Amino acid sequence: AKGRNPGGSLLDRLIAARDGDDHLSEAELVSLAVLLLVAGHETTTNALGNALLALLQHPAALDRLRAKPDDVPAALDELLRFDAAVSTATFRFTTEAVTLGGTGIPAGVPVLVALGAANRDPERFPAPDQLDLDRNAAAHLAFGHGIHRCVGAPLAKAEMEIALRALLTRFAGIRLAVPADRLEWRHTRLVRGLASLPVLA
Ligand code: HEM
Repeated sequence: AKGRNPGGSLLDRLIAARDGDDHLSEAELVSLAVLLLVAGHETTTNALGNALLALLQHPAALDRLRAKPDDVPAALDELLRFDAAVSTATFRFTTEAVTLGGTGIPAGVPVLVALGAANRDPERFPAPDQLDLDRNAAAHLAFGHGIHRCVGAPLAKAEMEIALRALLTRFAGIRLAVPADRLEWRHTRLVRGLASLPVLA
């Protein structure tokens, strides 16, 4: 649609960049668009919504960060562990047969690692369903692990810190506008997040 009706956005400028000598191929353009919109934007948007929802449902944690916004950076790992925006990693393929948790997985098959489940593993994080801003959650898997760990993690954390600080300091009375069980979650395979997060400020 943007190719047919160009505007002035970053995507439009990338599309326009196909015309020069050192031009972007269609595949490079699509790949960049996915990177910007899904990896860069959807993830952070939903991580922020999930983190704010967690705080709105845990008033003590919310009050604490509101009183001491400088504690927000240290709270981010626990907020990301508690409810991250990317529920599974992208596909991996076994290079050899492996037994994991008592289940045999043959060689050469696709495997999806449930990052959200790993973040609630009681052997790694005791009482994992509790939001505990004092726990050391630095080993969470919200950004994946290994060679494909999120390259945007520092940017995502900076964005979350800026947004949460601003929300907590500018909107002192921020609270949920609807009961939590009426919130609508998006139905997507990869990204976990709310369709909307209605608040009163
Ligand atoms: C809170 C926000 C974010 C979360 C939860 C998140 C999560 C993840 C996860 C779980 C992976 C690994 C996927 C896998 O192993 O299959 C990943 C990879 C990646 N992320 Fe993020 N991400 C976030 C923000 C961003 C941002 C802001 C950018 C870029 C501006 C970004 C760019 C990427 C890229 C390029 C990869 C692929 C790295 C590779 O395959 O080597 N992400 N992200």
